[in-house]
Amino acid sequence: MQVENLNVETLRWRDGRLELIDQRRLPLEFEYVACETAEQTAAAIRGMVVRGAPAIGCTAAYGAAVEAQRHAAASRQHFDAALEGAFEVLAASRPTAVNLFWAIKRMRDCHVRMRDGTVPAEAAALLDLARQMHSDDVEINRAMGRHGAALIADGARIMTHCNAGALATAGHGTALGVIRSARDAGKHVSVIANETRPYLQGARLTAWEMVQEKIPVTLATDNMAGHLMQLGRVDVVVVGADRIAANGDTANKIGTYTVAVLARRHGIPFYVAAPLSTIDLAIADGSGIPIEQRDASEVTGFRGMRWAPEGVLVVNPAFDVTPAELITGLITEKGVIERPDAAKIVALFGR
Ligand code: MRU
Repeated sequence: MQVENLNVETLRWRDGRLELIDQRRLPLEFEYVACETAEQTAAAIRGMVVRGAPAIGCTAAYGAAVEAQRHAAASRQHFDAALEGAFEVLAASRPTAVNLFWAIKRMRDCHVRMRDGTVPAEAAALLDLARQMHSDDVEINRAMGRHGAALIADGARIMTHCNAGALATAGHGTALGVIRSARDAGKHVSVIANETRPYLQGARLTAWEMVQEKIPVTLATDNMAGHLMQLGRVDVVVVGADRIAANGDTANKIGTYTVAVLARRHGIPFYVAAPLSTIDLAIADGSGIPIEQRDASEVTGFRGMRWAPEGVLVVNPAFDVTPAELITGLITEKGVIERPDAAKIVALFGR
C-alpha cells in the first residue's frame, strides 16, 4: 500500500492521546491505534504495534504522560500512585531495548523534580518532556544520518537486517536514516533487506519504507546473506541496535550476529547506527544484556497459518549479541567511532 504523505509519523500526540501506526498490519494496511492509558501503551509495546528501540522509548514516555493527563485533576497521593503504576507497567513491557528504561528514567526524574509542586503543573511538564524526547529523536537520527552518510560510497549496495527505519524511531531512522541521508546527499544507493525471520520486520517494514521512498530495495531471505556476499553483491552492512554494552557488544534483532560473522569472512564493513540512549554503560559486556524470548507461535506459523507440527519444541530469542570485535564502526549522533571499545564509548559521552 502506498501512503500519500511520506513523512509518516510512527507515533503522534493527538486530541489528548497517543496514536501509533499499527505496525502489525503493515504493509497490507495503514492505520493508527490510540492509547489512552499507560496499560494500553504497554500492551501496544508488548504486542508489537510499535517496535524498534527508539520508538519504544518515545512511546513509553508518552505512556507515562498519558497517565499523568488522566489523573491531572486528582489528589497528589492518587496522582503519584497512578504514575508509579505507569512506570512499572511500561518497564515490564519488553526487556531488551534499553531506550525503554532510559525514557522511563527521564520521566521519573522529572516527576521527582516536580512532586513538591501542583499536580496539573507536573502533568503538563511530563507531556512537554515526552514531546521533547519525540522531537529530539528525529534530530538525533538526522545527525546520525549525516555522520553515517559520509561512510557510504556512491553506488553502494547496503545490506540491512530487521527494521531500523522511521518506523523504529520517531522519524528518519537509525540504519535507514544513514541510507536516507546518503541518498539525500546525492548518492545512488540500493538496499538489500534481509527478511528477518521470524517476525519479518525486513520484509514487511524495511521493504515498505524503502518502496515508499523509491530507494531501490531487494528483499532476500536471511539465509541468502552469505551467498550474496560471496557473489560480491554487498558493499557494506548497516544495522541498528537495541542495547549496546559498555565495551561495544551490541544486541540487535536475531540474525544480526550471523550477518556480522559473514561480513567479517568476506571483508565487508559492518556498521551499527544507534543513538547514545541505546548505550547501557551499566552493562560491561554483551553477556549481561537481557534477551527477550518470544512466543513459539511466531516460529511455528504466521498470522493464523501453522506450518510446523504440533509437539515440536521451539526456541524464539528475539535478539542476539554481536561482539564489538566484529563491528567496523559505531555511528552515533556525536560522530562515528571506529572499532568501538570501552574507552572510546565512554569518551563519546564527554563529546
Ligand atoms: O523486535 P523489534 O522489532 O523491536 O526489534 C527491532 C530491532 O532489532 C532494531 O534493529 C533496533 O531496535 C534498532 S531500531 C532503530
